[in-house]
Amino acid sequence: METKTITLVQESFEKVKPIAPAAAEIFYSKLFELDPQLKPLFPSGEDAMKVQGNKLMTMLAAAVAGLSNLDALIPVLQDLGKRHVAYKVEPSHYDTVGVALLGTLEAGLGDAFTPEVKGAWASVYGVMAGVMIEASY
Ligand code: HEM
Repeated sequence: METKTITLVQESFEKVKPIAPAAAEIFYSKLFELDPQLKPLFPSGEDAMKVQGNKLMTMLAAAVAGLSNLDALIPVLQDLGKRHVAYKVEPSHYDTVGVALLGTLEAGLGDAFTPEVKGAWASVYGVMAGVMIEASY
């Protein structure tokens, strides 16, 4: 992965961190708008959603921090991907989540979500999803 890509993702994620709870909410509303059938895969109720949003942000934070050392991140992503099979996640769902994620970043970052930043996130998410899927199906 290119250093420039990693830097763009890490710097833009720093700007999302302070608004993480709002970002998590935007993410799930976008996700369920894109595919309402994904809703039953997640625990319901407001508290469950908050916990889930935290998990997502924590994992993204760890992933973003770990990009510079992809070798160490890969087995973590492989295990995560395998757990997702048990959550009834299918390979095609990864595209939908990717679209919801980019849409969330666009909403959260505003003007800072430049085409360059968008490209960097698309590439990073693509790598993460690719490793998770490859290990699981
Ligand atoms: C790069 C992609 C993804 C990342 C980093 C990610 C991250 C996580 C994390 C950290 C958890 C907490 C549980 C655990 O660690 O096993 C989780 C759970 C979950 N994820 Fe993902 N996920 C990704 C993709 C997806 C996709 C594509 C779906 C499809 C809708 C999905 C649906 C779920 C569900 C249903 C749970 C379990 C909810 C629960 O029972 O609490 N995830 N994810």
